[in-house]
Amino acid sequence: MSLAVRDLAVVELMDDPECDARRLKATLRRFGTVNRLVSGWGTVYRTTLAPYLASLGRPAHVLDLGAGGGDLVARLSALADRDGLDVTWTGVDPDPRAHEVAVERELPETVRFRCADAATLLDEGARFDVVLSNHVLHHLGPELSDFAAESLQLSRGLVLHGDIERSRLAYALYTAGITPLAPGTFLRTDGLRSIRRSFTRAELAGALAERASDEWRVEKPAPFRLLAVGRGRG
Ligand SMILES: C[S@@+](CC[C@H](N)C(=O)[O-])C[C@H]1O[C@@H](n2cnc3c(N)ncnc32)[C@H](O)[C@@H]1O
Repeated sequence: MSLAVRDLAVVELMDDPECDARRLKATLRRFGTVNRLVSGWGTVYRTTLAPYLASLGRPAHVLDLGAGGGDLVARLSALADRDGLDVTWTGVDPDPRAHEVAVERELPETVRFRCADAATLLDEGARFDVVLSNHVLHHLGPELSDFAAESLQLSRGLVLHGDIERSRLAYALYTAGITPLAPGTFLRTDGLRSIRRSFTRAELAGALAERASDEWRVEKPAPFRLLAVGRGRG
């Protein structure tokens, strides 16, 4: 198995509509723990998101596209509350199985979840101050271009897409590190497949530039992480 190129032939178990429902739920619930350990969103919140929200000087509305079981919205909303930021959060996911897990969370009224995609929100004329996503880009093949363009249209401010940076070391460390968290979930198989499907920095910059070359820059906010940063057009 080579990690020299993105491997779009491998499909994650969670993307199979017929996959084991119990294991899928357990996987979505445990993303919270995995994301805290590897996703780098603590750093992105501190260095980029919180300063931007504070700079607005008014209440803000943040959209998480592909929110899954809602763990990132739950974490970011708690951090913003702690910092006294006035923010409303919407997490959307087109997969009803993920939406079901998200709405089970007990969260403040400033957080809501919808089973929807970006195109639906655009049809409704919705706009947000920040549009973000975590671990969605690597799920996408040619649809990446539409997803990225829609995220720019939905935002009147910042767009932040976080994902894995593919490397042999990331693959080796994940193989060892995921062992205690994997039982009863798809975390081992799907995590390794995610790494195989994910981008290098140059690949992601190239893929985003195909449609909107001057709209994106790709940063490395933490080890094994990429962050595509865009300026909204909404
Ligand atoms: C690996 S999960 C990540 C969930 C969550 N963001 C997290 O970090 O825990 C990927 C999610 O992206 C969603 N997804 C896939 N394609 C999408 C698209 N085109 N638009 C929005 N969400 C999408 C899936 O339904 C799935 O819930």
